[in-house]
Amino acid sequence: MTCIVILTTMVLYAYLNIREVKKLLLKDSIHSAERLSETLIRATNHQMMNNDLEEVYRSMEDASRQVDVEGIRLINEMGRIVFSSNRDEIGTLFAEAAEVCITCHIGSAPLSHASYLDRSRIFVDDAGRSVVGLSKAIYNEESCATAACHVHPASIKVLGALDVVISLEEMQSQLARSRTWLIFLTVIMLLVVSMLLSLFAQKLVNNPIQDLLRHTQQVAEGRLDSTIQATTKDELGELAVSFNMMTTSLKKAHDELAEWNRTLEEKIVERTLENQQMQAQLARSDKLSSLGQMAAGIAHEINNPMTGILLYANLIADDKNFPPDLDDDIRIVITETERCATIVKKLLDFSRTTKPENRWSSLNQIIEASLSLLEHQTLFQNITIERNLKQNLPDIFGDAWQLEQVFINIILNAGQSIADAGSIKITTGLAGDGKFIFAEIVDNGCGISAEELNKIFDPFFTTKQDSGTGLGLSVSYGIINNHGGNINVSSDVGSGTSITINLPVAYNEVIQV
Ligand SMILES: Nc1ncnc2c1ncn2[C@@H]1O[C@H](COP(=O)(O)OP(=O)(O)OP(=O)(O)O)[C@@H](O)[C@H]1O
Ligand SMILES: [Mg+2]
Repeated sequence: MTCIVILTTMVLYAYLNIREVKKLLLKDSIHSAERLSETLIRATNHQMMNNDLEEVYRSMEDASRQVDVEGIRLINEMGRIVFSSNRDEIGTLFAEAAEVCITCHIGSAPLSHASYLDRSRIFVDDAGRSVVGLSKAIYNEESCATAACHVHPASIKVLGALDVVISLEEMQSQLARSRTWLIFLTVIMLLVVSMLLSLFAQKLVNNPIQDLLRHTQQVAEGRLDSTIQATTKDELGELAVSFNMMTTSLKKAHDELAEWNRTLEEKIVERTLENQQMQAQLARSDKLSSLGQMAAGIAHEINNPMTGILLYANLIADDKNFPPDLDDDIRIVITETERCATIVKKLLDFSRTTKPENRWSSLNQIIEASLSLLEHQTLFQNITIERNLKQNLPDIFGDAWQLEQVFINIILNAGQSIADAGSIKITTGLAGDGKFIFAEIVDNGCGISAEELNKIFDPFFTTKQDSGTGLGLSVSYGIINNHGGNINVSSDVGSGTSITINLPVAYNEVIQV
């Protein structure tokens, strides 16, 4: 747009300049014609006064031979051409309407005076050349009116007219030169101005806009760390600063969104895991519940005969008449029956037929009570037990004896998993925003394979052949479940096992199966 305005202005300027030069040159030509006329009139004045027409015509003939002069003619007051450099027209009569006469013969009476510019006329002659004609009146001066030779009455103001026609060719070629020069200058100026303009536009507009464009492309590609250098203090500079601010805000929003997304993903994974654990627990609870009912029936049926067998076996063993060589056999009967009684008791625990005695108890104390029963056993001789029990934990409401059994089972398992020497670390504290108390038992024993990990809570699952019943963890699971808590296990073969028990703080109603 600016370029168009500048171009138009310069072209207009050149056009007006050429027009003005043309006017000046034309005026100059007309002025030359006027000067020639004036000189001729003055030069021939004396000859006219002497009525030496021959000499007058000769002077005019001489003057008509000048380079630029196309023609000279002398017209008398009657409009007849008395002399002309073109001999053919001598003696012919001019009408008042003729081009030569029209300037002065404009009204009813002819003008006696008119400016030389008004008296001039430009036209193309018979040879096709541009010429300027100028007629000048020859006045009846006092000396003329009073001369004795050929008296002109004083009433006659104009005695005739001298018409000079001058060629405009020189003026036109001068004009053409000026025009060419001006056009050349205008083109040069246009080139210089457009170069300067494009240079300025490049530096002040194009470069910053290119920077902005590059920046927006980078932002679109997600490179939100990119910035633009604000080199100028104009609107584009301000735009660059605004762009930088916008990119910073965008990055902040993007980071926040990514953070939310990440948190959301973590939460989803967490919830999915919780869900899976809950489903597994539900399935396990179902299985344990039906198994528990069956176990309760069997245990109840076996318990009484078992008590009888044990009682009578002891009586037999104590009988003096009992043959001493059968002593070992009766002892085996008693030991195995006691083992059966233990299994039945565990089955009864598992089936929850034992009524829980709920009261407010300290979890740390329950753990300490379990440890006091285990610590001095040979199994724990080479095992370091590390206590990391958080003080002032809120009490839990539950059956302390049952919970003690849970910790005995778990700590015993931990001890049994350690081959020679090792350590067991027991930690308590608050979990789940203070809604739970947790107890974590970590050992550095043999660990549990992923395959076995799914089965350890199943009743009768054991890897301890003769020494284990496989009821310890399933009983513990049932007890914790009944206290509104949960057990989580993580283990690595060769590194050890971590079992975490969560019990609700405000749990005051033990669920009965
Ligand atoms: N801390 C542990 N380290 C390694 N294995 C473990 C651990 N705790 C449990 N187990 C595995 O889980 C199985 C089941 O344990 P659970 O306490 O239910 O039965 P058990 O210990 O085998 O027998 P019981 O407790 O009746 O003496 C164990 O046989 C053992 O393989
Ligand atoms: Mg066990």
